[in-house]
Amino acid sequence: MSRKKIIAGNWKMYKSQSEAIALTAAIAEGISHQPPTAEVWIAPPFLYVAKLISQFGNSGLAFGAQDCSAHDEGAYTGEISASMLHSLHARFVLVGHSERRAYHQETDIQIALKIDAALRNGITAVYCCGETLDERNTGRHFDIVRAQVSEALFHLPALAFEKIVIAYEPVWAIGTGVTASPEQAQEMHAFIRSLIEQQFDTALAAQLSILYGGSVKPNNAATLFAQPDIDGALVGGASLVASDFLSIIAAG
Ligand code: PGA
Repeated sequence: MSRKKIIAGNWKMYKSQSEAIALTAAIAEGISHQPPTAEVWIAPPFLYVAKLISQFGNSGLAFGAQDCSAHDEGAYTGEISASMLHSLHARFVLVGHSERRAYHQETDIQIALKIDAALRNGITAVYCCGETLDERNTGRHFDIVRAQVSEALFHLPALAFEKIVIAYEPVWAIGTGVTASPEQAQEMHAFIRSLIEQQFDTALAAQLSILYGGSVKPNNAATLFAQPDIDGALVGGASLVASDFLSIIAAG
């Protein structure tokens, strides 16, 4: 078994319900004409997950969410649990996105609990990690990513990695139009894979899908995907425009 290639769209807090349906319909239509080699995943806002799964669940797209609670249920006003997502047949959840870390003060320890919640409910966790510009400019990027990966993932049993995907997203590249060069991304992806190999084993590290995220666009996707340790992308802005997202999917 070789590792999966995945192109995932993170819609963040964009789109009305009718726009969400129209965008998904356009993506579904596009992949029906040109079947992708990669799996295509979409993380819309929570509100649309059930609707899109019921309407487009059989169109070759997988749907998930952008976050989940660390708890399965309880008095947590405004939160959504992984068990609820599971009940909708959501396939995956993003965990530890840098916007959650920055605006909601999520720590690696809390993120680890969210990963546990996703796995407990049979949902794949897409664990987002990556350094800030200051951390890169001061030469600390490898240390930062090592700490993020070890704190969130090293407590897991090896078997859990069947439902783990890592997304390396340098914070300085997210929504900025500045992409990590293919060499910078490849270097960090190889480093992340080596961390998993050292902590677990070679076969497990070889199976793990590591996505790149941060200003992936139609004009840079192919060179990123040509790197040996880049197994696809987590796409923000360009996933909101069907033609752009379909071009990225075609590059996969
Ligand atoms: P971007 O976002 O593609 O707009 O840079 C990526 C992300 O936040 O996952």
